[in-house]
Amino acid sequence: MRLNSIFYLTIIVVSFFFYSCKQQENSSKVEQLLSKMTLEEKVGQMAQITLDVIGTGDSRFSSDEPFIIDTAALRHAVVEYHVGSILNTTNNRALPALEWNYILSQIQQVAVNETRLSVPILYGLDQIHGTTYTADGTFFPHEIALAATFDPIHAYRMAQATAYETRACGIPWNFSPVLDLGSDPRFPRQFEGFGEDPYVGTVMGVEMVKGMEGDSKNGIDANHVASCMKHFLAYSVPNSGIDRTPAFVPEHILREYHLPLFKAAIENGSHTIMINSGIINGISVHANPDILTKLLREELGFEGVVVSDWMDIDKLYTRDKVASNMKEAIKLAVDAGIDISMSSYDYETFCDTLVVLVKEGAISEKRINQSVRRILKLKEKLGLFENPVTYLKDYPEFASQKFSDWSRQAALEAITLLKNENKVLPIDFGKKILVCGPNANSMRTLNGGWSYSWQGEKTDYYTAGFNTIYEAISTQFGQKHVKYLPGVSYVNEANFNIDRFDQLQETINAAEQADYIILCVGENSYAEKPGNLQDLYLSDNQVELAKKLAKTGKPIILVINSGRPRCINKIEPLSAAIINIYLTSNFGGDALAEILAGKTNPSGRLPYTYPRYPSALYTYYHKPSEDMGAIEEGKKIDGDYLPQFEFGHGLSYTTFEYSNLIVNPFVFSDGDSISIAVTVKNTGDREGKESILLYSSDVYASITPDVKRLRRFQKINLKPNEIRQVDFVITSQDLAFVNTKNEWVCEKGDFIIQIGDLKKTITKK
Ligand code: BGC
Repeated sequence: MRLNSIFYLTIIVVSFFFYSCKQQENSSKVEQLLSKMTLEEKVGQMAQITLDVIGTGDSRFSSDEPFIIDTAALRHAVVEYHVGSILNTTNNRALPALEWNYILSQIQQVAVNETRLSVPILYGLDQIHGTTYTADGTFFPHEIALAATFDPIHAYRMAQATAYETRACGIPWNFSPVLDLGSDPRFPRQFEGFGEDPYVGTVMGVEMVKGMEGDSKNGIDANHVASCMKHFLAYSVPNSGIDRTPAFVPEHILREYHLPLFKAAIENGSHTIMINSGIINGISVHANPDILTKLLREELGFEGVVVSDWMDIDKLYTRDKVASNMKEAIKLAVDAGIDISMSSYDYETFCDTLVVLVKEGAISEKRINQSVRRILKLKEKLGLFENPVTYLKDYPEFASQKFSDWSRQAALEAITLLKNENKVLPIDFGKKILVCGPNANSMRTLNGGWSYSWQGEKTDYYTAGFNTIYEAISTQFGQKHVKYLPGVSYVNEANFNIDRFDQLQETINAAEQADYIILCVGENSYAEKPGNLQDLYLSDNQVELAKKLAKTGKPIILVINSGRPRCINKIEPLSAAIINIYLTSNFGGDALAEILAGKTNPSGRLPYTYPRYPSALYTYYHKPSEDMGAIEEGKKIDGDYLPQFEFGHGLSYTTFEYSNLIVNPFVFSDGDSISIAVTVKNTGDREGKESILLYSSDVYASITPDVKRLRRFQKINLKPNEIRQVDFVITSQDLAFVNTKNEWVCEKGDFIIQIGDLKKTITKK
């Protein structure tokens, strides 16, 4: 049974009194503090443990329910071992904000009042699409869906609301944004990032950092948190597509495609960064000083805190076999540039061993000081010395209507209409609708992984107040017109990917009686390694269900609800309309229903290339040789770039016409700006939003050029017949690529500027 709210509040008020008595001076205090610290105290600051370690219960890996802090374990970690940071939730489930307040106040009370130097704990949590681990907070669409809005305001708002609500819990550090390039649909974490395009990811990532950290020059105020860019670098492109397996990425590719997102986030003030758990070019990134120090510190000038990923120093020894024991592993990682070890469970080994390494002279105390100084500075910037815990009572907008509206608006603008044969959508009121498929009646699938728990499997227990797709459609079109039958269901306790037929015949029978079949397919929730995949096709059972439903002759509206694009070529021709809702979270069902009813005009665009076949995976910025059939034979051949749907594809219920592409100047030099304008007209009969995408193509280059690259985008709203000129400015630098000497160059010659089907050629002299 949970402790009740009155009890929490009493504890909070008492704790608050303690802290006000313990105020510290600031700024140069970091140096003073550092000078007073013993080696053990310094090393403790570099260790991070998971919450269960300090909970009562028999094991370190789980805690009693309800969660109760084991004060002996807390003191062992924080007072005896001087541990400086804690992360994660307990027993892998979201907690209400008040319970977070209670936990944080107990932790900080021990850290501030019982340690020699009163250094507060830096608490970090993965609140990656809204308040992932706060039961009563606001959830937003995952980053992949925010990218589909092609409007950076949604990334900014999500970050701002999440920071605010995270602070309401008393937590000052968020392991977000994910800046991994989603260029491989097989990768199980594609939904966590902004899709395949480096420019979209850069723009959205910067907004996330700004929204999360705020713009205070002197620090991060109590409405904001420290962001954590992750996972540095090129985590999302293992050659196999399988999480945490080796990636081979030449340096010029790292620099041109993967680095810009991090570089821009650093330039916009992100204070922390988490390291790629994997292996690039044979070297575990956690042990790679070229990436962690030369590139990150010396070249990019990053001054913040570098945190390892989950137990990844251990993995240098236990998994990657580049260290023959923990001592070697710790030395490798600290030498490479890690500041905080997300040791999670066994922090004693990390701390004891690092002390020994310093005492033996294998690692200098100066090197330890560097990390500890960064960690203390962050704690200072977050105001933790003055105010170690923030409390829900000071955050009146927590779980407010405003934040819910932001989330709902983002879902509405993300949902992407991929096909709409004969204008089958929107659906008129009064029609008989069958809603079916394994994703039709599940809040779990709408939210995906990292929702109320790591794998998202507990979501349905927390989301009674929100609507599944079926519930939303039923509300929108009227209960008596809408029927639900699964046809196929996920086997919920098992692997995310396992499903089975469920009332198949009843579903077919109901389809016979319906005017429309809304078939909701996709994936169940997953995160990280459990989401690894052997086959990118949609499951056999779901394909079979679609085929059987198609035999009824009733129009199928295929709704895709998944973390990555699962191949649907076997059923695409059977569908009259296809609509991708990604992981649009708690308001995804409502948003879909509004769009199906025509109350909102869809305006999402694909932030990735939707592959047609599992063995023909391309990004839109592929090379000419990946499309040779088209060039040599005048037709596509097997294996050519022939996606199911292109990056940037997305239909509307209205039509837009582009005209009058103006480019000025036509001839340019290094450093020049180029103005580009296009006129857009809403030629249909409904108001609608349109994302204008500006591409460039380098016609010839010393490295085979990408066929095209997105350089700018802008979303506008137009009423029927409304005309607007949209202006962009790019510079020669925007047209550059990274050559094999790892230099950015904009080479002489022709470039094609393209918006819609309009093209103009400009020349670099
Ligand atoms: C993930 C990170 C996450 C960390 C802490 C790791 O397994 O890779 O993205 O921040 O766990 O939960």
